[in-house]
Amino acid sequence: SAAEKGGYDYFMLKEIAEQPKAVADTLLGRIDASGSLTLDEVRIPASVLREVDKVVIVACGTAYHAGLIAKLAIEHWTRIPCETELASEFRYRDPILDQRTLVVAISQSGETMDTLMALRHAREQGAKVLAICNTNGSTIPRESDAVLYTHAGPEVAVASTKAFLTQLVACYLVALYLGQVRGTKWGDEVGAVVRELSDIAGAVDAVLETMEPVRALARSLADKNTVLFLGRHVGYPVALEGALKLKELAYMHAEGFAAGELKHGPIALIEKDLPVVVVVPSPRGRSVLHDKIVSNIQEIRARGARTIVIAEEGDQAVVPYADHLVRIPATPTLLQPLVATVPLQVFACELATARGNEVDQPRNLAKSVTVE
Ligand code: AGP
Repeated sequence: SAAEKGGYDYFMLKEIAEQPKAVADTLLGRIDASGSLTLDEVRIPASVLREVDKVVIVACGTAYHAGLIAKLAIEHWTRIPCETELASEFRYRDPILDQRTLVVAISQSGETMDTLMALRHAREQGAKVLAICNTNGSTIPRESDAVLYTHAGPEVAVASTKAFLTQLVACYLVALYLGQVRGTKWGDEVGAVVRELSDIAGAVDAVLETMEPVRALARSLADKNTVLFLGRHVGYPVALEGALKLKELAYMHAEGFAAGELKHGPIALIEKDLPVVVVVPSPRGRSVLHDKIVSNIQEIRARGARTIVIAEEGDQAVVPYADHLVRIPATPTLLQPLVATVPLQVFACELATARGNEVDQPRNLAKSVTVE
């Protein structure tokens, strides 16, 4: 009913709008005023976490994209080797797991069969499993050694939005907690990240306030067949997520690429007027990557692509090559997906509506996939 949707036409729109609160709720009580993390609910003893020599993340779909970003955060902040794997592939490749492996299973519903089977396999091999989950008492947390709940509230739309942002928050918390427990020597960088993470809900809100041009752009592209998404570093999983949203909602051919791979094949796809969304890393921080992606934008534009550029406020280098420029607030590099994903969600939702598709219940899809 309209009341359930809180005045929005679709659950997806409501859930997109709820993201600042979902993010704040997931952070609540987990970072104290001094910047240290209290995750007592993660009932894996510190002594066990100190011995972990590898982290393996398993998940599907959107949760998998959160896991790809988590890998970058975990390795950068803790220096523990981490891999992220599609849960549906995991147990079929004889993965190397033992008592010192921490497996993180990410699932909104807590009922995804592929993820459940992956975590069962991991536990059989002696690994410890930590679930990141949005559904209290669901199967995945029940079968895990510990759980960190995301507090997104119920997500009804099949296309995941607020669950994704809260999965990212939970992943950052796990990464920082691992570093804290293990006494990782951090410089000022991580202190600043913790402070910015504590306030990030405001940045998500600021993005939501500026989405009207993105909606207008989406409507203008309703008759296109293909949209490509490019990113690097954390922007690559964001590109994959933008493409997944467009596939499931708009039923369009959408693909995400690591921008550095363009020249190894995908650049052959670029033709006149092809919409290409580019997620640009911060010009501060990893500025080498920023400069490389600016050349990628130049290259595709020279071949006629219509460039839709998502870039930090104040990034002037992209301006000459952006047919459409979407500004996002400046954040530390690793946190950028929390703001960069939001325009892609809005874009996909509006394109789906413009194409007359059922936004909350896309064809052929179920909210939770309980078969392998
Ligand atoms: C996302 O928009 C999807 N509908 C889908 O990829 C989903 O994220 C995936 O099936 C995993 O679900 P889960 O988080 O409930 O395990």
